[in-house]
Amino acid sequence: MNAVIFGSSGGIGRALTENLIQSGAYSRVFAVSRSGDGIEGATALTADFLDETALEAVAQAIGEKGPVALCIVASGILSDGDTLQPEKSYRHQSRAAFETVFAVNTIAPALIAKHMLPLMPKKERSVFAALSARVGSISDNRLGGWHAYRASKAALNLLIRNYAIEQARRAPGSICAGLHPGTVDTGLSRPFQSGVPDGKLFTPQQSAAYLLGVIDRLTPEDSGKCFDWNGQEVPA
Ligand SMILES: NC(=O)c1ccc[n+]([C@@H]2O[C@H](COP(=O)([O-])OP(=O)(O)OC[C@H]3O[C@@H](n4cnc5c(N)ncnc54)[C@H](OP(=O)(O)O)[C@@H]3O)[C@@H](O)[C@H]2O)c1
Repeated sequence: MNAVIFGSSGGIGRALTENLIQSGAYSRVFAVSRSGDGIEGATALTADFLDETALEAVAQAIGEKGPVALCIVASGILSDGDTLQPEKSYRHQSRAAFETVFAVNTIAPALIAKHMLPLMPKKERSVFAALSARVGSISDNRLGGWHAYRASKAALNLLIRNYAIEQARRAPGSICAGLHPGTVDTGLSRPFQSGVPDGKLFTPQQSAAYLLGVIDRLTPEDSGKCFDWNGQEVPA
């Protein structure tokens, strides 16, 4: 069976792809990104995840090579080094920021699910996972701020639960889960790492190894939930 990583050009996405190739656990590893840049040992495919025609073409190419046992959405956005910045107050909210952040963090994973869930086997175990974030937890939100990012991840978590319910009806071995990767040293977190305690900043390779361990241990009873890098459930 095959594995697919969407967002293989990102810090965590690349580390996940490399780890999966090294594991040898899958017949093929597809690496999907906007640039289509190759990773040795992976089959590179190109798509902007907001372009449904491109996603359809990618799904067709993947489907022709057999069923998908693992699909991980590792794309996402927090800031753009320019006008898009996580909001400290409701006064800083803007329509443009909400539209960009929801498009990448919520709508893109939804479109990927639309085209990838049908490729996952009906009977055997399969995992559809999307990188979410602990800050998307509504009940665990004690700090506030980061309005668009938090809301986009909370909405993503809700969609994952919806897909779990729907998949359980058609594919009893299917697991849909959100994953919090920890605070990881990537382009996404770099501008916001100053408050991270010593030893709490993971390399992408560390985080990828933890996340793949968590994925391996998930069962259909876990479907619809969000888990952190340590396998602990992140409350909704
Ligand atoms: N790093 C952390 O500490 C941390 C903590 C909690 C959650 N997360 C989550 O983990 C995930 C991965 O983050 P990361 O740290 O690895 O970030 P990253 O290095 O910035 O990677 C982000 C990835 O998203 C891709 N992407 C963005 N918009 C896209 C689009 N429209 N179409 C296709 N690809 C698109 C980027 O592609 P390009 O290369 O083409 O730009 C890149 O591959 C995100 O969902 C993030 O929210 C990260």
